[in-house]
Amino acid sequence: MQKKTFYITTPIYYPSGNPHIGHCYSTVTCDTIARYKRWQGYDVMFSTGTDEHGMKIEQNAAKAGKTPQLYVDEIADIFKKLWAYMDISYDRFIRTTDDYHKSAVQNIFKKIYDKGYIYKGEYSGKYCVPDESFWTESQLKDGKCPECGRDVIDAKEEAYFMKMQPFAERIEKLLTETDFLKPAARVNEMVNNFIKPGLDDLCVSRTTFKWGVPVPFDEEHVVYVWLDALTNYITLLGYENGEHDDMKYWAADVHVTAKDIVRFHSIIWIAILLALDLPLPKRLYSHNFIKLGGAKMGKSTGNVIDPFVLGERYGVDALRYQMLRDMPFNDDMDFSNELMLSRINTDLANDLGNLVSRTVAMVEKYFGSQLPSEKTQNDAQDSDLISLASALKEKIDTLIEEPQLGASLAEIFKVISRANKYIDETEPWVLAKDDANKPRLAQVLYNLLEAVRICSSLLAAFMPSSMQKVFEQIGASADCISYENAGKWGVLPQDVTVKRGEIIFPRFDVAKEMEALSSLN
Ligand code: MSP
Repeated sequence: MQKKTFYITTPIYYPSGNPHIGHCYSTVTCDTIARYKRWQGYDVMFSTGTDEHGMKIEQNAAKAGKTPQLYVDEIADIFKKLWAYMDISYDRFIRTTDDYHKSAVQNIFKKIYDKGYIYKGEYSGKYCVPDESFWTESQLKDGKCPECGRDVIDAKEEAYFMKMQPFAERIEKLLTETDFLKPAARVNEMVNNFIKPGLDDLCVSRTTFKWGVPVPFDEEHVVYVWLDALTNYITLLGYENGEHDDMKYWAADVHVTAKDIVRFHSIIWIAILLALDLPLPKRLYSHNFIKLGGAKMGKSTGNVIDPFVLGERYGVDALRYQMLRDMPFNDDMDFSNELMLSRINTDLANDLGNLVSRTVAMVEKYFGSQLPSEKTQNDAQDSDLISLASALKEKIDTLIEEPQLGASLAEIFKVISRANKYIDETEPWVLAKDDANKPRLAQVLYNLLEAVRICSSLLAAFMPSSMQKVFEQIGASADCISYENAGKWGVLPQDVTVKRGEIIFPRFDVAKEMEALSSLN
């Protein structure tokens, strides 16, 4: 039987400076969902890439004394290195300077033009150069760019426009009558601020810079970035080009972006797809920002945190965990090194790390690493842990659909805490004093290993490399950690053999680390 497809996308990032942990958040979110879906048995396409055209890139390259192509080549490489470093399992990396993408964009532009939705007009407005955005007078905040707060200039140019009104009703329906946009709180904002006042036509070409895809029938113009950027989600599957043949993955199951570009994905992208008569994506997850001292982290504000530095000191999985765990669904996360370190110490070193190392150490100490088959039956003391752990997979399945990754981790860690409490309740070291209690001791340790197996297999999509180490330590074969077995109790062999290994999540001295990190700045 053919597997069901699942298509998930990150935004394609501007290679206008080095990537920071803000970019990592979208990508780690997608990676976790993609891994979970593969584990569930889907045929997954997970895409990411870089959005390489536009005036800002042209200017940055000039400042750096490089050609735009060389400039973006170097930064695209850094993004690829970062994703390899962060264990990102993307299937395809698209660059908008890829030839197949450029020719597909030209075909798409022509197609929409031929359908009568694109026309030539004149654009005048207030223009923010760093953000490459035109604004109307009323959108400005104190006369400055409402996005970044910097000065805007008066600008006027001949441009092509795409009509938006023909699509307004269907866009509104998608937003209000389906659960396309998450969190749902964003729906009103889109409808009241943009759709109700009447959608402005979208400017889809520019003549003020050259670094872009030429409009096929009017080479003075280059295709303006959003039409070039958003269409990456279909060109990378092969739409209007012969490079790939993967349109079976369309429509996207989940687009992930932060809230800054929700308007482009929930209105403009939908209009483009409607103009092309293509099916609409099923979900847009528009998450909040990682902030630093109350301000959005971003290249243009200069307050970025280098993921290579943090990953090197604390481990990539710890970094992935902290981000996903602490980002609220409905609010921004204020990142701090202190928050990150205390999260790592409390959840990973104390709760999970200790549970694994204590359990494995006790099996080694009391049974020479291999549990005996002879055990007692489970009794009332065991039932709470067993029922909580057995019900966990179903909860996580539901939360991943939302997608609520922080809440998923919170649920898994509830079971981990419950297992730690179970050690205190059953007191294995007391049982070990009397040989007559060995079958009960073996049963208790088996239950702990089972709780660890279930939790770690559900955590594998979040922290892939560390969970491999847990599987090895608890003696779980590939079959024991399958998706089907994550919802079952009693899967590890009764005579399982454990293998003590390195400490998976070390504890850090917060004060010392804070000092070390501040001296790096
Ligand atoms: N190139 C466009 C997107 C085109 S998608 C068809 C763009 N690029 S960007 O480099 O500015 O990256 C935007 C995305 O990076 C955000 O939507 C978000 O996914 C991620 N983030 C950048 N800074 C972030 C934070 N401080 N916090 C969380 N995510 C952030 O816009």
